[in-house]
Amino acid sequence: MIFFPFNSIAYAMKIFLDTADLKDIRRAAEAGLIDGVTTNPTLLARASGGEDAKEIFRQIAEMVDGPVSAEVVGLDADTMLAEGRRLAALHPNIVIKVPLTEDGLKACRQLRSEDIGVNVTLCFSPTQALLAAKAGATFISPFVGRLDDISSDGMQLISQIRQIYDNYGMDTEILVASVRHPQHVVEAALMGADCATIPPKVLWQLMKHPLTDLGIEAFLEDWKSMGQEL
Ligand code: E4P
Repeated sequence: MIFFPFNSIAYAMKIFLDTADLKDIRRAAEAGLIDGVTTNPTLLARASGGEDAKEIFRQIAEMVDGPVSAEVVGLDADTMLAEGRRLAALHPNIVIKVPLTEDGLKACRQLRSEDIGVNVTLCFSPTQALLAAKAGATFISPFVGRLDDISSDGMQLISQIRQIYDNYGMDTEILVASVRHPQHVVEAALMGADCATIPPKVLWQLMKHPLTDLGIEAFLEDWKSMGQEL
């Protein structure tokens, strides 16, 4: 019988990888560390090396067993809808990322009515998050690092959105974005965020502790002194 170690987890914070770099995505997916991927035009420009963006989305979606956010670039609702429908048709894992604007919310409502997943991005205030949930967003992406960058408190926004969504039983998932360091991830989990999207560098940092490395070194020294094999 195979022991499945996750039986007792009712619901844990999901971890998404915030990148379009296929090598990092493959590494994290193969280690079973991620539940999805988020991309944006900046991340694509960094990783694409001239390859067609739609092809990159398709490859990511094949690699990952979970939602893969692909962002529209149109600014009016009709263009967002046309782009969103084309992207959604690439793979069932694709979720459409729209900006938190009037047109973005309009497109969100329509895409959701067509049963297409939507991630409303570039959220910086609780009122924006409330409107996204009312438009039926699957995910809301509050950018905590960019708020911290301008001396605001990014994590306080997460706590406010959590309370508002809980007050009204809104099921839009809070996807903590613009994560800069492991402490953002700790606080997101303490506040009950549904997901955090994390750059590869921060994901690797989540696993590291100097005492783990020192402990392995000391155990191996002692094992070697026994001169045995397992
Ligand atoms: C989220 O979906 C965005 O891609 C991302 O988290 C933005 O992060 P940044 O502020 O580091 O660019």
